[in-house]
Amino acid sequence: MDYKELMKSAQEARKFSYTPYSHFKVGAALLTKSGKVYTGCNIENAAYTPTNCAERTAIFKAVSESETEFEAIAIVGGRDGETSPLCAPCGVCRQVIAEFCDSDFKIILGTEENYSVHTLSSILPYSFGKKDL
Ligand code: THU
Repeated sequence: MDYKELMKSAQEARKFSYTPYSHFKVGAALLTKSGKVYTGCNIENAAYTPTNCAERTAIFKAVSESETEFEAIAIVGGRDGETSPLCAPCGVCRQVIAEFCDSDFKIILGTEENYSVHTLSSILPYSFGKKDL
């Protein structure tokens, strides 16, 4: 699967975002090394802190089905009815990505038409992880 198709899957996953509080809708599509795609959306909560980001929804879906080796994640987000030119993952999601992914794991940001490819090490330098324990 190419990155444009992965962005399309992320955009489609946005449709299921549950965002009655922020009205900011995010979709993610996670590509495993075995070639499967797990999608996710953000799911908010009236108590706010239980909110789960789209990226973590996708990663937790995959891990819960025994997939732990990942190649890339595409992320598309923006206010309801709009798509941001670049919606970067939050710090918590970067840390969760770092739990499972190598430094050259690819993070694809932007829109289906105009996206850029980043690496985990470029968006999370000096990371803390299992190597430090
Ligand atoms: N959000 C994500 O789903 N992914 C991110 O990396 C950034 C933030 C969600 C959480 C919340 O539902 C909304 O966007 C506003 O922060």
